[in-house]
Amino acid sequence: MASFPYRCRHLLAAMLMLTPPCLVAAASSVETNQPWWKRAVIYEVYVRSFQDADGDGLGDLRGVVDRLPYLQRLGVDAIWLTPFYPSPQVDFGYDISDYRSIDPRFGSLANFDRLVAEGNRRGVRVIVDLVLNHTSDQHPWFRESASSRDNPRADWYVWSDGVPVDAPSVDAVQRRFAHEGRAPPNNWTSGFGGSAWEWVPARRQFYYHRFYRQQPDLNWRNPAVERAMTDVMRFWLDRGVAGFRLDAVTSLFEDPALRDEPAAGGLDAFGMPKLRHVLTDDLPEEHAVIRRLRAMVDRYSGSRVLIGETWVDGAASMRRWYGAPALDELQLPMDTVLGFGGPRYSPDWFRRRLREAQTGFGGGQPLFVFDNHDTERSIDKFADGVHDIAIAKGIATILYASQATALTYYGAEIGMRTRPPLRREDVRDPIGLAGWPQDKGRDGERRPMQWTAGAQAGFTTNPSPWLPVDPDRARANVASEEADPASLLGWTKALIALRRSEPGLQGGTMTLLDTVPPGVLAWQRLPGRGPRIWVAINMSAVAQDMALPAGAKPHALLTTEAAASHDGRALHLPPFAIWIGRVG
Ligand code: GLC
Repeated sequence: MASFPYRCRHLLAAMLMLTPPCLVAAASSVETNQPWWKRAVIYEVYVRSFQDADGDGLGDLRGVVDRLPYLQRLGVDAIWLTPFYPSPQVDFGYDISDYRSIDPRFGSLANFDRLVAEGNRRGVRVIVDLVLNHTSDQHPWFRESASSRDNPRADWYVWSDGVPVDAPSVDAVQRRFAHEGRAPPNNWTSGFGGSAWEWVPARRQFYYHRFYRQQPDLNWRNPAVERAMTDVMRFWLDRGVAGFRLDAVTSLFEDPALRDEPAAGGLDAFGMPKLRHVLTDDLPEEHAVIRRLRAMVDRYSGSRVLIGETWVDGAASMRRWYGAPALDELQLPMDTVLGFGGPRYSPDWFRRRLREAQTGFGGGQPLFVFDNHDTERSIDKFADGVHDIAIAKGIATILYASQATALTYYGAEIGMRTRPPLRREDVRDPIGLAGWPQDKGRDGERRPMQWTAGAQAGFTTNPSPWLPVDPDRARANVASEEADPASLLGWTKALIALRRSEPGLQGGTMTLLDTVPPGVLAWQRLPGRGPRIWVAINMSAVAQDMALPAGAKPHALLTTEAAASHDGRALHLPPFAIWIGRVG
């Protein structure tokens, strides 16, 4: 397969913009003194669905090793592996029963070590997913904790006696979850349906679970829990991981008084009252823990990184997760508002959110993300049914040509679609089982990676993969897109290569351009040294002309096939066109 199909030989061809996506000029790689994660492209590998090497229909670590050459060609700096630890797989690995091993379904520690070594050889670091908030109910810690009220781990989880079922504070919903005359202590709900409290007869107590009932929350007010998890982190740091993606990290603490949460109005997909999670999420107590974990991680060489799954609703909270102004907490809390909050493909939304990431995060490095294993794929969210690939190229441009660290998800680069199951009996995700038909769960965004147009998309030799491959593989697959310069994969590769090679796309400052035609999102990158860069995305179905600064000497670096030409005074942007270039 061609390693880089978009390098244009002739500048003139590029100036005429009659070519496919075209990388016109590429300076040699620029060394900066920033830590690696500041300009990184991080790629989420959903291990179950990426590559099956042993033919059991489930992706595995050997499969990831086999695909490292592809990831290297794409220009990925690090992969984040979704949980591969021993687990009953109730929540597909986010219910861990042993933090220091590999589930045999995914391989062995030897396979893991090989992945780290091979990855390092190819410049692809390995980041692991770590679930600090909860364990599996099959973890020995929980089994012990649940066995009695006075065992050595009795206080490792969040336990409550509940309240008498006839107490005046108990409402009808709580009463539904009563046992042996006791009701849950409050109205807290699980993100995966029902009450957040589960009764254990051996203790005659309830335990709290933010997620599925097989995922009991650890009690982070107990210092022994923090010590145990710190040891787990050391185990993986010593094995050479480049960092952690901290799962559900904003949920470590709950209100110690277990007060009711305020109602948000209406019912959730599981029929429970919607609540404002002000007493179970994003509590101030979190930050001292995160600072200690960060200090520990910083003692390792190689700029190890803490990425956070931070579903918070604004810049004020994001600043706290960075630990601004000291920046001594998470280096990369995910900006979930920019990528997941947007109503549609519209410049106003992105302009506001990009500006907020520039100015509102207290100096922390933004981490942008549009796709992951829990949400509808961005192509489906933003597409209009006609210009889908052009729109996906625009999203990729925001991700890779802005100043943020980029986090992507397998398959986004080829335009894989979200395809939820059509029948309840085909659902695998617990959320889909509990929420059907209102919430069909997350199977739709977790289908096998489409390497080829073949029967099992090159993912497995097994005729029954754990989730069916999508029929759309004939249109969207790596093999055909690597051979097609105009494909989404072609555009993504060219963008990442430009991000790596062009001084103007590394460091420096980024300024949103306000005086732009309607429908256009544009920004300027001003490097410490070297020419400034303009990035212009026409997000509308109407051609737009965008004035260039007086005396500018525009020089295109990368444009879509919907050629965006310039005449020295204005950029001409056909519908959905993208232009990246130097403007002198
Ligand atoms: C995170 C994970 C999600 C999982 C949940 C519970 O949100 O991304 O997949 O179900 O945590 O661990």
